[in-house]
Amino acid sequence: MKSILPTLLIIMIIMSCTKQKKTQDQTDVTSEIARNDTFKKWWKEGVLYQIYPQSFNDTDGDGFGDFRGVIEKLDYLERLGITMVWMNPFFESPLVDNGYDVSNYKAIHPRYGTMEDFQEMMDGMQARGIKFVLDVVVNHSSNEHEWFKQACSSRDNKYYNYYHWWPAEKGKPPHRHSLFDPEGGWDYVESNNSYYLHTFAEEQPDLNWENPKVRQEVYDIMKFWAEKGVNGFRMDAFQFVSKDTTFPQFPKGHEKDFAKWYGMGPHLHDYLKEMYKEVIEPYNVFAVAEGAGSTFQDAHDLVDADRNELQTAYHFDYVGLSRTLEGYTLSEFKEVFTKWDREFAEEGWLAIFLSNHDNSRLVNRFGNPSPEFRRVSTQMLNTFLLSMRGTPYTYYGDELGMTNIDMPSIEEYVDVSAIGEYGMAKARGEDMEEFMKMLNYNSRENARTPMQWDDSKNAGFTTGIPWKRVNDNYTSINVAAQEKDPNSVLNHFKRMVKLRKDNEVLVYGAYTLLDEDNEEVYSFTRTLDDQKVLVLLNFTDHESEVTLPLIENTGEILINNYEDLVTKANTVNLKPYQAVIISINH
Ligand code: NOJ
Repeated sequence: MKSILPTLLIIMIIMSCTKQKKTQDQTDVTSEIARNDTFKKWWKEGVLYQIYPQSFNDTDGDGFGDFRGVIEKLDYLERLGITMVWMNPFFESPLVDNGYDVSNYKAIHPRYGTMEDFQEMMDGMQARGIKFVLDVVVNHSSNEHEWFKQACSSRDNKYYNYYHWWPAEKGKPPHRHSLFDPEGGWDYVESNNSYYLHTFAEEQPDLNWENPKVRQEVYDIMKFWAEKGVNGFRMDAFQFVSKDTTFPQFPKGHEKDFAKWYGMGPHLHDYLKEMYKEVIEPYNVFAVAEGAGSTFQDAHDLVDADRNELQTAYHFDYVGLSRTLEGYTLSEFKEVFTKWDREFAEEGWLAIFLSNHDNSRLVNRFGNPSPEFRRVSTQMLNTFLLSMRGTPYTYYGDELGMTNIDMPSIEEYVDVSAIGEYGMAKARGEDMEEFMKMLNYNSRENARTPMQWDDSKNAGFTTGIPWKRVNDNYTSINVAAQEKDPNSVLNHFKRMVKLRKDNEVLVYGAYTLLDEDNEEVYSFTRTLDDQKVLVLLNFTDHESEVTLPLIENTGEILINNYEDLVTKANTVNLKPYQAVIISINH
């Protein structure tokens, strides 16, 4: 039989040429787009720093962070070089979900300070070139919001239709999954003989966006803050706001694909367009969605510029990667980032993040928290975050390499989500020892410990009793120590932020993955017109070699988390977790 091998070889050569051609075209297109002034936006060029206000800096000794604490640290923020701050909710709230249960959207929880303090804090940021992004939590309110209290009083109350209800005379409502409540997403209220819907905790009833009055209330809230000068909005749980209010039965087990069944409801895009006209456009602000649906098309439909809806979004594929104790493989990591970049190379814009207040610490999940490698592996991850295409979102403490704390017993947990998950696991009859191991690694409480400022009592966070235990390692991992050490994670972070700000290629340049199958080193280039840089990241705890034709043309080393770089012809020998960015000569 005639061998088909030669034919296959020809096909493969043609395919690889087409692949290369496509990459080249993509680079050209991206350069073309990036030259276009309407494509350029401050919220694409910036570096965002997320502050969990409760844990940042306490000035009144009550053990909770406050606005004056942030004011005290404004110069620190400026020194970081970041240009945007997203602050988690600080509104009036019973704090069942640490502020993601708002009882008054236009008032500040006294724990954080006053409206004057808020204004001073935001003005102070803006005077330092830092824009402010407000967390908008309007998929649900708190059950202590006046609207909900009134809605519970009677079906005739004008606020009844501000929420989703199932009249009890129709029997039990069709099952809805709740992310926090083991008993499900409906709860009964005797005074109006109805069940209300809650996607999160039972204290977080979902607002009824089908009611135009609710939407006007939301725009009114956003305008209130826009008039105070906020520059952007982070839309909490936004993909869930629109619902099929006939509440059809969902199949058993559907909740495993939560975003598909509960996200991107029938009128979401109409609402977003309305919000754009009412708030985003007239106030010249931007909005970023938490979540991006379940397909690339969903994500594009949310953020593409010509849709006039949201401006950017972040999806959860990256964080999903590191949710198990087995960890992730580098090829999975590369694949996720590469496919999202490919899909958004020409249209739309996304945020890039590896950690936030809903996940455990960056270095524990993606790096190596051992004393030997914590510093270099965090630097490597920060190099990645700040050299990738998309707006980098960094989380307080990750600029120091703060780590998880050890919380093996459920008694220590205060988070509604951890407690809810524990209840669900128990109800499913899971092995609770295994569950606790997982929770200890994964719980978002790991990332909410007080900021580590110095080696004084409570890491300089508070003179009182901190609301959450300070990580024992604060005596060695803290701002004061790292500011003095030129090789610290902190100083590397600052250098990396500056590098991004000084080099447009790191913002708008096309991304091309190299050496795809290398399981140890992540290599990619960013290219903008005649500028090209090569990023090499060793994701392992041992030396690793990478061979690429491009290495022969390397020029200046723009950043390196080690003192030297061992290069020979077209090969680089990277030290454990070594991360370098090198310019490429033409
Ligand atoms: C997403 C937020 O990031 C999370 O912290 C919160 O618990 C839920 N939305 C509910 O608001």
